[in-house]
Amino acid sequence: MERSLQWSRPASLLLFAAAFLAAAAVASAGYNPDPLSVVNHFNRAVQRSTSPRRTLSEKKKKGKYSGPCLATNPIDRCWRCRKDWATDRQRLARCAKGFGRETTGGLGGKIYIVTDPSDDYKNPVPGTLRWGVVQLEPLWIIFARDMIINTTQEIVIQSNKTIDGRGAQVHLADGGSLTIQNQRNIIIHNLHIHDIKKTTGGDVAVSPNHFTPRTKADGDGVSLFNATNVWIDHLSMALCEDGMVDVVAASTAITISNCHLTNHNDVMLFGANDNTPEDKVIQVTVAFNHFGRGLVQRMPRCRYGFFHVVNNDYTHWLMYAIGGSSNPTIISQGNRYIAPPNMAAKQARLLLVIPH
Ligand SMILES: *[C@@H]1O[C@H](CO)[C@@H](O)[C@H](O)[C@H]1NC(C)=O
Ligand SMILES: *[C@@H]1O[C@H](CO)[C@@H](O)[C@H](O)[C@H]1NC(C)=O
Ligand SMILES: *[C@@H]1O[C@H](CO)[C@@H](O)[C@H](O)[C@H]1NC(C)=O
Repeated sequence: MERSLQWSRPASLLLFAAAFLAAAAVASAGYNPDPLSVVNHFNRAVQRSTSPRRTLSEKKKKGKYSGPCLATNPIDRCWRCRKDWATDRQRLARCAKGFGRETTGGLGGKIYIVTDPSDDYKNPVPGTLRWGVVQLEPLWIIFARDMIINTTQEIVIQSNKTIDGRGAQVHLADGGSLTIQNQRNIIIHNLHIHDIKKTTGGDVAVSPNHFTPRTKADGDGVSLFNATNVWIDHLSMALCEDGMVDVVAASTAITISNCHLTNHNDVMLFGANDNTPEDKVIQVTVAFNHFGRGLVQRMPRCRYGFFHVVNNDYTHWLMYAIGGSSNPTIISQGNRYIAPPNMAAKQARLLLVIPH
């Protein structure tokens, strides 16, 4: 099926896209005027990394695999089985693929170590996660040990940050979401995010020594609002009150990969309503995720933008998997869909026609 990897469009559409693109480029430098080139680039990387059949058959023979480290997709292959991952953490900044591939996060910044799981949302202290994410300089944020951070309110992240949970079991739980608003270049990697609740709002730290009143938040796991260049990788997420990952308000250049999602209703919302044509710039790659037990709908639910949903494993859904309205372009490739044993929910894809 080599040929199906290449996508092309009639020239008139390309011209239209180019004109639209020129206008949009001003608004957000992360927007890619040629999204099909990103799709093809991604697919070539997958092809290159899936050649050694030998490892796959070895894996099958042994039942539950207990051999040497395996990385089976091009993102993980970039860092995962390297002995020096803990001393060369910033290598991860070169590993993103898809629309978020230019995301470098805290590359070049200092390593900041979270040692304190407490969370004072108004006046965070050094050593806490919240203190690190509000700094203006690039930071590569890691964790000294396993911890549970009860997020008292939304954690508002400044540009040029990596939150790198590798080497520790870090849970963000029982409180506010991770929020990226009007910021760019952020990697969020290897965290458990669950039991996120609506928050009442209040004075929340947004930059060093500065807090601002924030209104109540819906209780998303990760909330992207006018965010550019964000890579979300290896998150384990469950039970958030609103969306798990919401990408709204003309956010673009996003990759969501290698996540394991369970027990949730509205999983991923890309574009929040049908009256925001500015969301045409939204471009998201959703790849190598496992949509698991107890998920209901929106994996993802798309509006306006361009979405590459590729090589995900859907083992459960209660209503539908992928949905769209307002002329989104959704390229769904190489996904595995196992429909639920409910005749009313056998459709993996749902086209939502919204009457005006
Ligand atoms: C977080 O909250 C839970 C339940 O509210 C509590 O059991 C736990 O001790 C809290 N953890 C921290 C680090 O404060
Ligand atoms: C992020 O880093 C880039 C590259 O170093 C820099 O140009 C930019 O100003 C930084 N952004 C912010 C908001 O600090
Ligand atoms: C979006 O965020 C950028 C900074 O990344 C800012 O310059 C711009 O004004 C924001 N756009 C809106 C509509 O708030």
